[in-house]
Amino acid sequence: MAQTKQARITAVGHDLPDDRLTNSELEAVVDTNDEWIRSRTGIEERRILKDEDKATAFMGAEAAKEALKQRNISANEIDVIIVATVTPDYLFPATACLIQKELGAVNAFGYDLSAACSGFLFALSNGANQIESGRAEKVLVIGADKMSSIIDYTDRSTCILFGDGAGAVLLEASEDETGIIDYIHHTDGDTDGALYQPAGGSLNPADENTVARRLHYVKQDGRTVFKKAIVGMADVIEEIMEQNRLSANDVDWLAPHQANLRIIEATANRTGLNRDRVMVNIDKYGNTTAATIPLCLYDWKEKLNHNDDIILAAFGGGYTWGSLYLKWGIK
Ligand SMILES: CC(C)(COP(=O)(O)OP(=O)(O)OC[C@H]1O[C@@H](n2cnc3c(N)ncnc32)[C@H](O)[C@@H]1OP(=O)(O)O)[C@@H](O)C(=O)NCCC(=O)NCCS
Repeated sequence: MAQTKQARITAVGHDLPDDRLTNSELEAVVDTNDEWIRSRTGIEERRILKDEDKATAFMGAEAAKEALKQRNISANEIDVIIVATVTPDYLFPATACLIQKELGAVNAFGYDLSAACSGFLFALSNGANQIESGRAEKVLVIGADKMSSIIDYTDRSTCILFGDGAGAVLLEASEDETGIIDYIHHTDGDTDGALYQPAGGSLNPADENTVARRLHYVKQDGRTVFKKAIVGMADVIEEIMEQNRLSANDVDWLAPHQANLRIIEATANRTGLNRDRVMVNIDKYGNTTAATIPLCLYDWKEKLNHNDDIILAAFGGGYTWGSLYLKWGIK
């Protein structure tokens, strides 16, 4: 087996549908208004994948293709494909299988990982472990969600929040001190239905009743999740900073999950991180679930310097939450 090496991100790709859904367009659909949405969430618009024959695998594959092109490597060099998503094209086969076929990644095995808004973070640490163990040389980690497929556009408390999109990173062994250094992940299944999609799984398979009761859509007790997210995100960032002896000044960038601008700002304040060092693109895309963090990395990649200390952090359904500390490896 190859020698243990730290995993680093060597390329970042993305995919966003062209169609935009603005706050004022939502005003025509539910009882809401632009001012409320902006001030309570920071969201101005989101992207919606409207093509009926396209879904999460399409966006994930496009993001992966961009990452491969950036690194100038062919798909048959990929060993593993991990797809974080809560909106797989099918319950099975896994979205990773569909992406594997689309890419022609004939030497890769792949699987989906379901951890809602923390999915990309968990998938990234998973992928890094495969590189570090020497079992894999090139791993694609993709966060992709077509949230519009599980959103109830008659429910104003959720339909204003979510959008569609995908981000992908390529992981390879690091040749220097850069790469994924540490991570902390948590799960607490005691949510009492605060955030879930009640039907479509093996407990409540689809029937006329589940459809009539709109149980195939996201249900969220926003206020409860909000309180949990603020504490969870800030705690887990402080935890990883402490564990790695990082002060706020040592952290060059924070890439937080984009669920609500107020959660992001409260987290930055509590951890003492300067607001201009915090990646925020929720205004443009809303909450794209597993895609928010790789979309941040994509949008910021021109500003990131080799060796920058970056913390990624997320909180979401499950509950799941976590942080990850890396040194940026792309020159
Ligand atoms: C959903 C969320 C934006 C709601 O914001 P909030 O400030 O908590 O708002 P509340 O739910 O307390 O609702 C306040 C009022 O606004 C109303 N309201 C809710 N949605 C509205 C909308 N889209 N437009 C206008 N008014 C709305 C509510 O009915 C309520 O009215 P009331 O006071 O008359 O009962 C916020 O709770 C949130 O972001 N939650 C966490 C999301 C998250 O992190 N999820 C995890 C990752 S997916």
